[in-house]
Amino acid sequence: MSYDLQVFSDPQELAHAAAIQFCAHAKKATDQRGLFTVALSGGSTPKTLYALLVTDFRDRVPWQQTHFFWTDERHVPPDHPESNYHMVSSAMLSKAAVPGENVHRIRGELPVAEDAANEYEHALKHFFRLGPEAVPRFDLILLGLGTDGHTASLFPGSEALQEERRLTAGPWIERLQSFRITLTLSVLNNAAAILFLVSGVEKSEVLRQVLLSQASHERFPAQAVAPVNGELIWLVDSEAASLLNV
Ligand code: 6PG
Repeated sequence: MSYDLQVFSDPQELAHAAAIQFCAHAKKATDQRGLFTVALSGGSTPKTLYALLVTDFRDRVPWQQTHFFWTDERHVPPDHPESNYHMVSSAMLSKAAVPGENVHRIRGELPVAEDAANEYEHALKHFFRLGPEAVPRFDLILLGLGTDGHTASLFPGSEALQEERRLTAGPWIERLQSFRITLTLSVLNNAAAILFLVSGVEKSEVLRQVLLSQASHERFPAQAVAPVNGELIWLVDSEAASLLNV
């Protein structure tokens, strides 16, 4: 899989570049189809990007035509500090004029994670008007990279990595001793564009492994992200790229 790797001096430059990419993909989609579908990553790295979109880039985001989805969610209520919805809402959505029907969160509060995954899959099929075997094609999917090589909530050794038919999964994550809800690789790899955001020296070794090693997807799930007909863009800061010799 070919990818575009861009290295930035620090996390602020990285976030600024990501905001430019976000707005470019949004403009392309809304110019072509009048709407922009994006799946947002959780974690901490994208927080600066989300804050930039609702401040410096506020006038360049087509808020009314953008439909916000998530790549994954923790098995917690939406007001829980660990909730990815809570993070994105606090950093961005609560400060922008986004119609409620444009926000498609994963209901992590459901008692059974698999039920939340099934409900989210149904919502995806409904929104994208999909037939039984069809896969949604997001205009843009934002992803992060865990130090263990996970992305979204696709963790090393997870059975969700083998899922080829379903759009979502609700796996138990042994290392976290908790359930997660996640998009499956089928959806990630059907995107028009995937933007990985990776920052910090603690990610340097895993980034080297993911980009340069021939290890298995089981060991480094992020290596399995390879859009079949889309762009794969890695935006990283110099600390994360410190072992790449670039
Ligand atoms: C999550 C994310 C997850 C994240 C990585 C990196 O739910 O936490 O979807 O895949 O992107 O763990 O997280 P950081 O950006 O916090 O390092």
